[in-house]
Amino acid sequence: MASRAMKFPVLLALFFVLGSLCGCAHGPGAPATSGRVVVLTGASSGFGRGVALQLASRGDRLVLAARRTELLESLTRECEQRGGRAVAVTTDVADAAQVARLAEVARREFGRIDVWINNAGVGAIGRFDETPLRDHDRIIDVNVKGVIHGSHVALRQFRQQGHGVLINVSSVTGRTAFAYQASYSASKHAVRALGAAIHEELRANGERGIEICTIFPYAADTPWWPNAANYTGQSPRMILIDPPGKVIAAIVRATTHPRREISVGWKAKVLHVFQRVTPTLTEWAGGKIAHDQFVIEPPPAPTGSGNLHEPGPIGGIDGGVREKIKFEDAAREPDGLRDGG
Ligand SMILES: NC(=O)c1ccc[n+]([C@@H]2O[C@H](COP(=O)([O-])OP(=O)(O)OC[C@H]3O[C@@H](n4cnc5c(N)ncnc54)[C@H](OP(=O)(O)O)[C@@H]3O)[C@@H](O)[C@H]2O)c1
Repeated sequence: MASRAMKFPVLLALFFVLGSLCGCAHGPGAPATSGRVVVLTGASSGFGRGVALQLASRGDRLVLAARRTELLESLTRECEQRGGRAVAVTTDVADAAQVARLAEVARREFGRIDVWINNAGVGAIGRFDETPLRDHDRIIDVNVKGVIHGSHVALRQFRQQGHGVLINVSSVTGRTAFAYQASYSASKHAVRALGAAIHEELRANGERGIEICTIFPYAADTPWWPNAANYTGQSPRMILIDPPGKVIAAIVRATTHPRREISVGWKAKVLHVFQRVTPTLTEWAGGKIAHDQFVIEPPPAPTGSGNLHEPGPIGGIDGGVREKIKFEDAAREPDGLRDGG
């Protein structure tokens, strides 16, 4: 009787030891869920900031990149308070040498890279020909070349290690081109194509320990909107804008459950289905919505190149777009309606 009672705790201990060993294994389909080394671009605001805080709570070791050093440094402290370890590396992803240095810091500090997230991105809203060429160039430099720079260093490292997860943040505009966001849509289509091609290369070479995942968020309320370049002369808005937490949760989940492509939320999923079934109609409807939301509906706003060439003023996770829309709509309502009369 006594020996049976002894056996149970021993078996239990064995179970836990084996369980934790399996949990730590890096290999096909079994990425570790904590203590990983994660490089994250675009960490200073929006989705990136939210993802960093959540991964830190899981005990991950983070290498955080963006241009705004002060925001990165305060985020680093917040991550460490949550139990993670974090290093801030001021980086402009459009510069390949700076991205190479980012990878170098990750290797020097933590010895390997388990997950690389290319999240940094910028955009411009406006008629194609009224948006300066310099701004179109910059969108391609940051959103396309930046993702190529990050993916290149990440994959070289992953192939040396035999494992790794690469996550690239595209957008619904990466499948459905939106009016007034021509270069942005083109850049996000490129991010999708890049991911699909790399995925096939990995499959063709049987490199099952390396995963690549492209994320397609619908419009979400982050500083992307107030910081974007704007040449419409109106303050942009978007219908049914998502809370940023939805996208942050999807990116965090993709670090442990990567899939080739992930559409975030029902709006992105429905758009994807419509785009496949009837692309012309979907793009026409998107164009009508964009014209309405960017040109007809909003009140006037100053034009300018936003955060394309210099970092923008707005940090944090929430961009205040939903609040702004509520405020604008309330201001537009006739007095009687506003008073409930
Ligand atoms: N919010 C949306 O509606 C939405 C929808 C679909 C997809 N996305 C995509 O999601 C990603 C994250 O955007 P977000 O919504 O979280 O907006 P956000 O708050 O503006 O975040 C963008 C991040 O990218 C960084 N960044 C910009 N240019 C950079 C550069 N040259 N080098 C390094 N970092 C740079 C910004 O930091 P610094 O300025 O400090 O460099 C910031 O941390 C972007 O790729 C965006 O295109 C957004």
